[in-house]
Amino acid sequence: MAAAGESADGGAAAAGKKVVEDAILGFLQSNDEISDSHKFAVSTGVDHTELENVIKSLHGFQIVFAKDVRRDKWILTAEGKSYAINGSPEGQFFAAIPSEGISRDDLRKKLGDAIFKIGSSQAVKNKWVSIEKFLVSRKAEYVQDQVMILLKKIEAEEILDAREIADLKKRKLIILQTSKGYTLTKGPKYTVKRVKAATDLTREHLQRGDWKSQEFKEYNLTARAPPIETGCLHPLLKVRQQIISIFLELGFVEMPTNNYVESSFWNFDALFQPQQHPARDSHDTFFLTVPSTTRKLPEDYLKRVKDVHECGGYGSKGYRYDWKRDEAEKNLLRTHTTAVSSRMLYLLGQKPFTPMRYFSIDRVFRNEAVDRTHLAEFHQIEGVVCDRGLTLGDLLGVLDDFFRRLGMSKLRFKPAYNPYTEPSMEIFSYHDGLKKWVEVGNSGMFRPEMLRPMGLPEDVTVIAWGLSLERPTMILYGIDNIRDLFGPKVSFNLIRSNPICRLGMD
Ligand code: PHE
Repeated sequence: MAAAGESADGGAAAAGKKVVEDAILGFLQSNDEISDSHKFAVSTGVDHTELENVIKSLHGFQIVFAKDVRRDKWILTAEGKSYAINGSPEGQFFAAIPSEGISRDDLRKKLGDAIFKIGSSQAVKNKWVSIEKFLVSRKAEYVQDQVMILLKKIEAEEILDAREIADLKKRKLIILQTSKGYTLTKGPKYTVKRVKAATDLTREHLQRGDWKSQEFKEYNLTARAPPIETGCLHPLLKVRQQIISIFLELGFVEMPTNNYVESSFWNFDALFQPQQHPARDSHDTFFLTVPSTTRKLPEDYLKRVKDVHECGGYGSKGYRYDWKRDEAEKNLLRTHTTAVSSRMLYLLGQKPFTPMRYFSIDRVFRNEAVDRTHLAEFHQIEGVVCDRGLTLGDLLGVLDDFFRRLGMSKLRFKPAYNPYTEPSMEIFSYHDGLKKWVEVGNSGMFRPEMLRPMGLPEDVTVIAWGLSLERPTMILYGIDNIRDLFGPKVSFNLIRSNPICRLGMD
C-alpha cells in the first residue's frame, strides 16, 4: 500500500510539473514575455518554488530564456495581518464605543489591554474620540479605518505612496521582502509542447523508426559521477605491504604468525628468559584463563631447556634455579613475535641444517598503560637470519641494508640487553623531519643457550632484529597519537584519504 501511495504521489508531482510547464509555454506562445515569475505564480495559482524548478529545467534546455530579477515587496507582519482582518486598533477602538459613550474600564475589558492602549492613542491622535476621566465617547459619527484599507492594498500588491508606506513601516505592520524571480522569454529551442529528449537509443526506437525524429539528450561530460564506494587499506596495512616486499626482495621467507595465543614456553623459556623475569609477571603480560595451560610441548627439547635454565651448558653457568614446567605451560597472548621465531628455529634444528632467512609482521600484546605512544596491542616486524659463522658485522650490514630500504640511511647503535641475545643493540635512526635520533628497533645475536638446545649445529649463529610497525607508519603519515592510528577512535576519513605508501632507497 505504502509503495502504491508513493508512486501515485510521485506521478501526481510529475503531472503537476507538466501542467506548470504547459502554462508557461502556452503563455509565451501568445505573449512576448512573462515579466515577473512571482506574479505569474499568483495568477496561475502555483507555488513559486515549484514554478522555479520548472523554469530552471526549461532554461537548461534553452526552451525559455530566464533572466534573474530581484524584486522588493512589502508584506504584512503578523500584527499587520491581524489588523487587515479585524481592523486597526483605532478602528476597533472607535467601533467598540456605543453612541452614549462607555467607561474606560469597560472599554478596556471589551478590547483587551493591547488594542485598548494602541487604539486609544491613535484614535485620540485622529480626533475620532474624546477620553475624559471616566467616559470615552465618539467625536465623529463615522470614520474610515485607513490603516486597514492600506493593509488590504498591500496584500493585494497595490502600490502605496511613500508616506503611507513609511507610516505602516513605523508601526511595524509591514516589512520589505526581497525575492528572487525571473523574467521569461522564448529560448532558441522554444516549442509549445516540450518533447522529452531520450537519454538512450533503444531497440524500440529502431523498431518504431522514430529515432529519426526523436531528440536525444546530449552527453554531459562535465557531470560528476557519484563517489565510488570501495574498501580502503589502513595505513598500517600499506606500510606492512611495503615491508613485506622489502623482505621478499632480500630473500626472506614469511613465518606463520596466525596464533595470538602462545605458551610461556615458546614466548619465554625457549628464549632463555628465566621464570622470575619481571616481563613474565601479569602486570606486563596477558595470561589466559581459559584454556590456561598448554599440554603439547616437545618433551626432549623441553628437558634440554630446563637443563640450560637450571645448570647452563655450552659454556654457560645457567640461571641456577628450580625450573618449573607449570610456569612454562601457562598460556598467554604473545608479547613478541620472537615466540614465532623460536618455534621456527626449533623446527629448523630438527632437520639437517640449511641456512634460512625468516621474517614476520603481526600483532603482539603487552599489558601496558595506554597513552599517546603506547597501546596494549601493536604490530611487530621481525627479521631473522640463520647461517654458519654469522658475526656482529653481518648483523650491522643486514640492518643497514634493511633500514636503508625503509628510507632510513643514518643508523646508530647502542648496547642493550635482551635475555636471548648477546650482544644486543638498540637501533636509532636520524629523522630528518623531527631533526633528532629516534629509536627504531632492537636487535642482537641469539645466545647459544637458546640455539644449542634446539639442535642447531655449533657453528650456526642467528642474527635477528625487531621493530614496531606503528612507529614508521606514524612517522610516514605524520600521525602523532597512536590512538588516531589504531583502535576505536580512528576516523574513517583518515583511512579513506591517506596516500599510497612507497618506501624508497635514497
Ligand atoms: N623481541 C624483541 C622485542 O620485543 C625484538 C628483538 C627481536 C630483539 C629479535 C632482538 C632480536 O623488542
